[in-house]
Amino acid sequence: MGRRSIDFPAWLAERVQHIEAVLDQFLPSATLAPTGLHEAMRYAVLGGGKRVRAALVYAAGEASLQPGTAASAQEIALDHAAAAVELIHAYSLVHDDLPCMDDDALRRGQPTVHVKFDEATAMLAGDGLQPLAFELLGLMPIAPALIVQATQLLARSAGSLGMVGGQAIDCESVGQALSEAQLRQMHSMKTGAMLEASVLLGGIVAGAGSAARQGLESYASAVGLAFQVVDDILDVTGDTKTLGKTAGKDAADNKPTYVSIMGLDGSRQLLKELHAQAHAALLPLGPSAAHLACIADYIVGRDR
Ligand code: IPE
Ligand code: IPE
Ligand code: MG
Ligand code: MG
Ligand code: MG
Repeated sequence: MGRRSIDFPAWLAERVQHIEAVLDQFLPSATLAPTGLHEAMRYAVLGGGKRVRAALVYAAGEASLQPGTAASAQEIALDHAAAAVELIHAYSLVHDDLPCMDDDALRRGQPTVHVKFDEATAMLAGDGLQPLAFELLGLMPIAPALIVQATQLLARSAGSLGMVGGQAIDCESVGQALSEAQLRQMHSMKTGAMLEASVLLGGIVAGAGSAARQGLESYASAVGLAFQVVDDILDVTGDTKTLGKTAGKDAADNKPTYVSIMGLDGSRQLLKELHAQAHAALLPLGPSAAHLACIADYIVGRDR
């Protein structure tokens, strides 16, 4: 994978800084009416975050780049796709934190949007972020057929068969003893779908062929599930300050999680298997997938 020869922390820090600037530019100015709504949208998106989904878009783009593709058009399209997934993700967090859902007061080390503003503004900020994501995909300077594929993928991944469906199952599952298969289904939808979409969007934008897409899909389903397994573990082992969100919230709310169903050791064992699956899936992609490999390590080893 050539991982020894690359400086992943420096690459990630540069990508994080880059996507922050891109998001800042794409979000409506807080001086534009309705100013309260735009202020809340900017607060929801620009208030930190690890930017894992954006990093996945860029790394999958690198892994899939076809010789002969115009690099500058591809870079612009990757910026649009990376911003789109971060916008949908930010909207999902704003709604996830609402009193009618997880009722959380802290996110990314700051008061949640409904606490800082009010519930109606939080709902509308989320509602405003979602179509902006699709507008950005529509403006990608790539072949129209690829824009259609990207739009369909993001719509399906964010919708009732993906993230929103997973959130609905999450709400229905409070206090329930789910089977491992049911839990896997819920996690793959509520969190896995958007991480998978991030990887596949990078591949689509860069014109990945069907063999590369297969590798990306297998990698993405492993890291997508692994991400939520770690989130469940950190809810138990992490502290509020490092996480930037309230620790211990899942148990307090009686949510079924990997830890509640398999225990910490069982969850860590599953994580090991998913980590290995992610790396195995990248082998056919060769050295251009080095950053994807490092992101898998980062997701599994993170403390926030
Ligand atoms: C938190 O996502 C919600 C889940 C899907 C588990 P992240 O852990 O990626 O949150 P940010 O974007 O870094 O704040
Ligand atoms: C949220 O899962 C997944 C989303 C689609 C937003 P969680 O409810 O576990 O996320 P956190 O722990 O609040 O970040
Ligand atoms: Mg939740
Ligand atoms: Mg939550
Ligand atoms: Mg959680």
